[in-house]
Amino acid sequence: MAGEKKYHIGFGADDLDGVEIALLSGDPERAAKIAGRAQDPAQNKYLECERELSTVRGLNSYIARFPDGKRVLSATSGMGAPSLSIVVNELAAVGIRQIIRVGTTGSIQPDVHAGSVVISRAALCRQGAADDIAPKEYPAAANPFLTVALVETAQKLGVEWHIGLTASVDSFYEGQGRSDTSFNKHLQPWLQDIATQYQHLNIINFEMEAGTLFKMGSVYGLATACICAVIAERVQAEDIDEEKKKIAEENAIRVALQTVHDLDSTYLDAKFWR
Ligand code: URA
Repeated sequence: MAGEKKYHIGFGADDLDGVEIALLSGDPERAAKIAGRAQDPAQNKYLECERELSTVRGLNSYIARFPDGKRVLSATSGMGAPSLSIVVNELAAVGIRQIIRVGTTGSIQPDVHAGSVVISRAALCRQGAADDIAPKEYPAAANPFLTVALVETAQKLGVEWHIGLTASVDSFYEGQGRSDTSFNKHLQPWLQDIATQYQHLNIINFEMEAGTLFKMGSVYGLATACICAVIAERVQAEDIDEEKKKIAEENAIRVALQTVHDLDSTYLDAKFWR
């Protein structure tokens, strides 16, 4: 039924009222901030919230409006691929056709600094949820048109950007080779030097959702892309840089929003790129 509310996201097609594009944040507070519903009123500087659709399970979703009236869904994926896969499946079912993930990431290349943004063109996808959707060998590639649009917007806004290959993995600590900041100091041998191994493969960053999102995009016929705020420089340290995080997150949100606003959707229909 078109109007049926989906179990996890808590809303249905009727609630979207024709909106087909979503900004998908891992963090519910970022989804709220994008939509003008942050707890701290000073953070509500981007869009006007038209309607809160749901806060079920912390998967906060809002319909938000640009000053000229254009509307977008600001939704939450939760952390990691299992949660994202449920949300993306249900978003597709209620009529979303384009998804831009607005996330955070740790860089593993010396020239990719905290504060900048990484736009992923494809992912090394080491994610169990994605294996349930397509074979391991299936490419985890972003939609080229949406991805170029993000790059062009970042350039126009003067935001420091990087485009390249992303490693999407299932854990923040062991899977990204963290031992100093991890409770578990005994990484499996193959993970002990994983950041350096990936650096030599010309991968630029670690995060936890893009690969599964991209595979789902290709299987489901959705245009998907990912922009991440760089909040850790893994070449220097394992920690999150809290000061740079504010700058980086602001940059990623601004670029994603301006991209949605300016988007020429001619080539985003799946008939142009399957
Ligand atoms: N998210 C990640 O998955 N890794 C980081 O280092 C930072 C954010």
